[in-house]
Amino acid sequence: MDDSTFETFFADPPASIDLNALDRTRVPRHISCIMDGNGRWATSRGLSRGEGHKAGIVSLREIITACVRLGVDVLSAYAFSTENWSRPKAEVNLLMHLFAKTFIEELPLLHRENVKVLFLGDISSLPEETRRVFEYGLAETRDHTGMVLALAVNYGGRAEIARAARLLANKVAAGELSADDIDEASIAGELYTAGLPDPELVIRTSGELRISNYLLWQVAYSEFYITDTYWPDFDRWGLVEAILAFQHRDRRFGGLSRAKGR
Ligand code: IPE
Ligand code: IPE
Ligand code: MG
Repeated sequence: MDDSTFETFFADPPASIDLNALDRTRVPRHISCIMDGNGRWATSRGLSRGEGHKAGIVSLREIITACVRLGVDVLSAYAFSTENWSRPKAEVNLLMHLFAKTFIEELPLLHRENVKVLFLGDISSLPEETRRVFEYGLAETRDHTGMVLALAVNYGGRAEIARAARLLANKVAAGELSADDIDEASIAGELYTAGLPDPELVIRTSGELRISNYLLWQVAYSEFYITDTYWPDFDRWGLVEAILAFQHRDRRFGGLSRAKGR
């Protein structure tokens, strides 16, 4: 199937989607996905949770391509939280191996689509195989100039903010920075997302109404879109629906509505 252009990738929308309503000039620059529901997707089909995680990777591949076709600058995705280490060891091991295996398999896609990979979170403490593959992928895609794919692995929002505080404290101790000069920009500059725009749209699949320690600092004014769809069932059309919903939001940032007549 030729999916190399927006028109071919988004050909044949389901009847429920009015693709003409999509304003392609107002697609969020940074879309973030909390990829939740792999386990429930699998259990509801009588499959193992591991099968759910495998199916989830197929969805991520589709969403990566969809975001490239839509002209998104940054796609971030929550793959493994600092709290996910508390899952049974077998599931953690399976996920870590799956990350390494798929990452290698998907490198040609990242090359073809000129996607630059970043990691949010501490990848230095991941199992050897996964860490090596991730470091290889970072180096391989470093010079890519297209969309940034920021994968949150071993990521926790509180850990990230604590780390930023530590890094700033070290700079103060070294005499490189005055404590009185610490402001929002200096904190943002020490986060894993330094240099990236904040997410404008955060999508959480599987219906959970919580943030689960994700990008706590960066989502200050993000629009949230929650769908009951489990992540493995989330596809390009689900993404379009989320963007259409986003385009109807009235983002006020604490000010007053810009909509006429209000
Ligand atoms: C999200 O799916 C993937 C990871 C957290 C790694 P889950 O594994 O959380 O799936 P559910 O929430 O149990 O259905
Ligand atoms: C959030 O999902 C983390 C990822 C999607 C990687 P969880 O399944 O870990 O979140 P909780 O436990 O339902 O809050
Ligand atoms: Mg979950």
